Parts: sequence; structure tokens; C-alpha cells
Amino acid sequence: MKEITHLTNLHTPCYYYNIELLRKTIGKVKAELVKYPGFQVHYAVKANANPVLLKLISRAGLGADCVSGNEVERAVECGFTPDRIVYAGVGKNDQEIKTALNADIFCFNSESLPEIQVIDEIAAASGKKARIALRVNPNINARTHHYITTGIEENKFGIYLYDLEQVIEESLRLPNIELIGLHFHIGSQITDMSVFRSLCLKVNEIQQKLKNRGIVFPHINFGGGLGIDYDHPYREPIADFENYFATFARFFEASPYQQVHFELGRSIVAHCGDMVSKVLYVKEGRNKKFVILDAGMNDLLRPALYQAFHKIENISSNKPEEKYDVVGPICESADCFGKDVTLNGTSRGDLFVIHSAGAYGETMASRYNLRDLPATYFSGPASESDS
Ligand code: LLP
Repeated sequence: MKEITHLTNLHTPCYYYNIELLRKTIGKVKAELVKYPGFQVHYAVKANANPVLLKLISRAGLGADCVSGNEVERAVECGFTPDRIVYAGVGKNDQEIKTALNADIFCFNSESLPEIQVIDEIAAASGKKARIALRVNPNINARTHHYITTGIEENKFGIYLYDLEQVIEESLRLPNIELIGLHFHIGSQITDMSVFRSLCLKVNEIQQKLKNRGIVFPHINFGGGLGIDYDHPYREPIADFENYFATFARFFEASPYQQVHFELGRSIVAHCGDMVSKVLYVKEGRNKKFVILDAGMNDLLRPALYQAFHKIENISSNKPEEKYDVVGPICESADCFGKDVTLNGTSRGDLFVIHSAGAYGETMASRYNLRDLPATYFSGPASESDS
């Protein structure tokens, strides 16, 4: 990076979004979707719910994947049409269910019979019919970080395969429920396409079993999960959408007229956002030097929570490289962005960029220690018209 001029006046810590890169990324997604007419992408709002980004994504024609009533409302406010909104979550409360029914969203992704029964009751009371896709736990290991693996039996997510036929049978009996599909999501930050291939083969098997019983759903939703290259944010800032969609086109045997849905989050927004932070102090121990930033784990939680790697750069310095532990100001040992990071010689006031923080950065920020939430800035001319 090392282009510093446009960043010097920012209030730090902040998220800095590269709108041009976001446009290019969405352009690539759309170019791939043109190849596969039955495929649709619902952007996973949980990855980044900033209205500027959401408006851009909705205008590009993608749908939204929400996980709370507030996300459904935000998505509608930011221009996503309800017929492209899906709503997932392992436990939706009554008010959230009402919100989604009133908005007339395309589909609930539901994970348990008790929840489906409640949706049925609430739909009856509001004189509506709820479209539902059953989230199935296919027992496939995404081989990603333990905390972001969701599709194996030890996880709380989804209907287990041994329960599926019974849940389908009972749901079909509910008068205010229309079962329209199956939903899967096996984890996040998956870069090995063979994992998605295994998912396709498993879904083929499940579909075949159901077909033998005369059940074919018009919609299959594969969730999200496509990973990005955190090690090299400059080398390939756009995720491998080509290979991703091609894997599903090749290995998933869709039934005639079946629509195939995806819920991509990270791969759309991660690289377009950086965290910019200022060095408060450099503290020298006997064997170590610490860079203490003005950003903390409350601003960007991923390194503390998942030991996630984000590339860190000192964009103010050209001094000879040294090794530092890069930490935040919060009284927690986990408040560390990187250990033994090689950086140009660092002093108080230098600006740091923590790369690829556009996904699960701003949305996971908190006010822990009563700190202010990080500021947000947008590069390029899009920011004025899109804000
Ligand atoms: N659909 C469902 C049902 C999900 O649970 C998720 C993410 C997605 C779609 C979007 O997945 P993506 O395309 O972004 O991988 N906070 C963690 C990631 C948690 C992901 C939770 N579910 C992190 O910072 O790595």
C-alpha cells in the first residue's frame, strides 16, 4: 500500500472501504452468475451491514441473507426487495418472525420443528403463509477453524439427516407453512473446493432419497463459505468465484427448474475493507517490542476470537524492518493483532493498516470498555452518492 496521503486525516481507529474494489468484486460475481441461469446470490448481511455497502450490493441486484429481524429491516431499508431476502438463524424470536412475515420475505431458513411450528402459528395469526427451506446438517467437515465449522453433527446447526424425513412430513401438515427448499451451510473461510464438491455429492444423495419418496423441492440453498486469501490481500483481491460456482455447476445434480441459492458474505466484502489505526506507543521489553495501537479487539475481534491472521502494514515508515507484537490498548491478553510481525521501524503516530477487515470486522465491533465504535470512511466518488 504505502499510499498514505488519503489516510492521514482520518479519525482512527476506523474502517476504510475501497468502494471501487467492492464494485469490481460484485461485477465478477455477476459475470459468473450470467453463466448459470438458475443460480442466485443472497449477500450475507452479517459479514458487513454498513448501509453504504448494502445499498451498492442491493443496486447490483443481489439478494440478502439475514440472521435477525433487524437485519431484515436494514436490508429492506437499503433497497433489497423482499422477494430476494432469506432469513436464517437457529432461534428466531416471535417479534423477528412477525417482522419477516410482515415484510413478506422470500423464505425462512429454519432449523427445527419447534421453530417451524411457531412460525406456522404466527403466520396463521397474521393471515399469511410462510415459505420455508429446511436447514439440513449434512455432517460434512468444512475443515476450517473450529468456531466457524457448522455442518458436522456436533454443531447446533441444522436438522440432522436422521430426522429430516420426519420433519418434512410434519411440516407438510402445517397449514400456514409452504416447504419450498433445503438449505445447507457448512462453514466459513473455505478455500478447498473439494469441500464444496463433497457437499454437492451429499446433497445429490439426499435429493435422490427424497425423490424416491416423491418429494422434490424447487429451491436448494448451499449457504456461503467461500474463503479469501488473507495472506496476500494485494495479489488476488477478488475471491475465486469462478471455481466456486463451477464446482456447484459440475457436481450438483439440480432437478429440472430447480433454483440454486448461495449466501456469500466474506468473499464479497472482506478485501474491500481495511482497519486503519494509529500507533499510540512503542514499548520495549528485554526481548520484545510491542506496538500499542489505538485499535483494540473491540474494533476488530477476529484475531482475538479465532486467532485469525490479518496482514499488518506500517504505512508511515520506510525504516529498516524489525519484529513487533502488535497489540491493542485493552486489558486482555487476547487483545493482540499479531505476534512477531515484521514491520518497518515504528514510532508513535505512525499509521497502520490491518488488511482484509471488511468482513466480520465492523459488524462484530463492540463498545467493550465503553470505547467508541470505530469510524467508517469510503474511498472514491461512490461514497457521496451511496451514503
Ligand atoms: N449463511 C449462513 C447460514 C451463515 O451462517 C453464514 C456465516 C453465511 C451464510 C456467510 O458465510 P461466508 O460466505 O461469509 O463465509 N465471524 C466469523 C465468520 C462467521 C460466519 C458465520 N456464518 C469470522 O469472522 O470468520
